Amino acid sequence: KEGLGTRIIGQNIHCFSEIDSTNNYAKTLAQKGCDDGTVVLAEHQTQGRGRLGRSWDSMGGKGIWMSIVLRPAVGLEDVQIITLAAAVAVVLAFKKVMGIDAGIKWPNDIVLDGKKVCGILTEMSMEMERINFLILGIGINFSHEESEFPEEIRDRATSLGIYLKEKKGMDISRFKRSHLIRAILSELEEVYDMINEGKAGVIVEEWKKYSVTLGKEVVIKYREEQYTGIAQDVDQSGRLIVKQDDGTVREILSGEVSVRGL
Ligand code: BTN
Repeated sequence: KEGLGTRIIGQNIHCFSEIDSTNNYAKTLAQKGCDDGTVVLAEHQTQGRGRLGRSWDSMGGKGIWMSIVLRPAVGLEDVQIITLAAAVAVVLAFKKVMGIDAGIKWPNDIVLDGKKVCGILTEMSMEMERINFLILGIGINFSHEESEFPEEIRDRATSLGIYLKEKKGMDISRFKRSHLIRAILSELEEVYDMINEGKAGVIVEEWKKYSVTLGKEVVIKYREEQYTGIAQDVDQSGRLIVKQDDGTVREILSGEVSVRGL
């Protein structure tokens, strides 16, 4: 916390060596009324969760497994923007701390050369049709070797360590996870301030700068339905605008949707 320089994010930090899921613990804290910006960190998660009901591999000591409780002063329509903003904060922190240029695959997968290095799981609690709190769960593969990923995800996953070695001939051991965490929390505070000030448009423009999805052909899967089209834009609410081959334009919210580049 020392020298973090933030007013809200990370004023309270709970650290665990092992926990089921930092998102679960953050939710318990939030239900008990913890402060806006409370952070939960764990070395190892036994039941790390990903989007779309998937599990998230959270090996001990290899990653940054972190959840942040937010109590934003915005309506439901801006929840998606907060998720996009979190992705932007992570990309900016990678750049500042390690000089790495990462991309964002809509809505919020952070990728390096097309492989996923970070995932974000946003969970929401509503009360009387208003946001009670949000849990922003951020998982970053930090120092995994390629062989340490489960075989079935090896061709799609990477770590900061693998990328640094390959691209810059650098060893990840020269960086501390705590430096990256601090940078993320401080970038997060900046985007969070913007959202609370009603500047969602700025976030969307910033997100677009790092997008690897726009202009690409994508496959959208939603329940039983599947279709392809070109990802054209992201609107002010963070919806992806996809134009199908027959000219139909669809607006897609992240919820249950999986997007694959072709
Ligand atoms: C995704 O599917 O891309 C989202 C992955 C989110 C993983 C993080 S790790 C910290 C937090 N706790 C969890 O159980 N999940 C999130």
